[in-house]
Amino acid sequence: MIIIVLISAIFCAEVKLKVESSPKDIRRINGRAEFDAQEYETSCQCESTTTPLHVGETFCDPTKVQLHQDFAGDDGKTASFEQIRHLIGPLNELQFGDPNSYHFSCLDGRNEQGVLGTPGGDSGEFLLALQVYEQTINTPLAQDTVDSIFANYLQFMKQDGFYMCTDDDAIRHLEKELGMTLTVDALIDPPNSFKDDLLTSLLKPENTGCMHLKSILKNPESYDMRPDLVRYFLRSYFTILWNKSNPLHHKLILEVMAGRHEERAFLEVRINEACIRQNMAPLLRPKRRITLASVPQGPTSTTFHEGGATEIFQAYVNHIDAASIRRKELSKFFAENSNLNGVHFEIDVMHHRLNKKGLIYLPFYTVTIV
Ligand SMILES: *[C@@H]1O[C@H](CO)[C@@H](O)[C@H](O)[C@H]1NC(C)=O
Repeated sequence: MIIIVLISAIFCAEVKLKVESSPKDIRRINGRAEFDAQEYETSCQCESTTTPLHVGETFCDPTKVQLHQDFAGDDGKTASFEQIRHLIGPLNELQFGDPNSYHFSCLDGRNEQGVLGTPGGDSGEFLLALQVYEQTINTPLAQDTVDSIFANYLQFMKQDGFYMCTDDDAIRHLEKELGMTLTVDALIDPPNSFKDDLLTSLLKPENTGCMHLKSILKNPESYDMRPDLVRYFLRSYFTILWNKSNPLHHKLILEVMAGRHEERAFLEVRINEACIRQNMAPLLRPKRRITLASVPQGPTSTTFHEGGATEIFQAYVNHIDAASIRRKELSKFFAENSNLNGVHFEIDVMHHRLNKKGLIYLPFYTVTIV
C-alpha cells in the first residue's frame, strides 16, 4: 500500500510519503506528473485498494504536519502516521540543506543522521550523469576519461564532500574473499601492497554495501548501464581515496553502514517551488528511535514503556526534487566540460534525461520493504 504524507514544514517544505508493505497483489501504475514546469514520466507499483487516491495541496504553515493516507493497508504491517511523524520529528528542529552544497547520502534506513537521500548518494548521481553523458555523445568513455571527468568534477562541485556508502556486511564479505581482517580504516587507507587485490574485489557486487551500486553491478542491463562504466567510476573513486598525495582525496567520504536493513516505509520528499528557488531541502533521519503514545500495529521490535511504546523505525528517504537540483548542477558541469566529439548538448536536455532515467532506479527499493 502507499501512503502519501504532506508535511508543511518551515516556510516551504512538502514531503510526499509512500509506504509500501509486502509486495503481494502489485499493480503497475504509469502516469505523468508535471513539476516545476517539467514533465516527468512516473511509474509505481501499488497494491489494490479501496481508498480513493487523494493528493493534498501544498501548505506553507510552519506549525502543522499534513498526513494523507492514500492507500490503506490491512495486513497490520503498515507504517502509521504517528510513526512517520515521529520519524520526521519536531518541525522546529528540522535542519535544511542546499542540494548544491550538501552531500547526498544513499537510500539506506540504517542512517541516523539527517540526510538528503537519493539512490547511491552522490556516487549514484554522478554515475547516472556519466551514463547519460556517454549515451548523449554516443562514445564509450575510457578509464582515463572517467578519471579526468571525476577529478574535474571534484574540483567543480560546491559541496565539501563527495559521498559513497558501503556496509559492514560487504566488509565481512571482502575479509572472507581476501582471507584477512579488514578494518574500516584499512578500507579507506590500505597499505600499497594490498591496493590492487582490494580494488579487484571492490568491483564485485558482493563486496559493495551500497544497495544501488550493488544492484547495478549485478544487473547492469536493467539499468541500461554499460558494466565497464560502473567499474571505471569505482576505480577512479578508490584510486583518489587511497592516494594521500592527491589533494582531492580529502573530498571523498566513504560511509560504512552497520546493522540490518529494516526499512518499513518509502518517504518521497518533495519540496515546492519556493524551496527549489531557495535551494532548501529538509534533512531527514532515515532511522530514529521513536516513542509512540498509542500501540503501533505489527512490528515485533516494539517494547513498551510508561507513557508509550518505543521502537527503532527505519525508512528509505528519497529527496526527489532535491536530486533534480543536483542533476541540474551535474548537467551544467557536463555541458561545460564536454568537448568530446564536438557534440554539443543543452543543459536542459541533459537535466531532463537525468530526471527521467533517475526514476527507473526507484521501484527496486519499494519491493524490499518489510
Ligand atoms: C597521486 O596523486 C598525485 C597528485 O595528483 C599524482 O601525481 C600521482 O600520480 C598519484 N598517484 C597514483 C598512484 O595515482
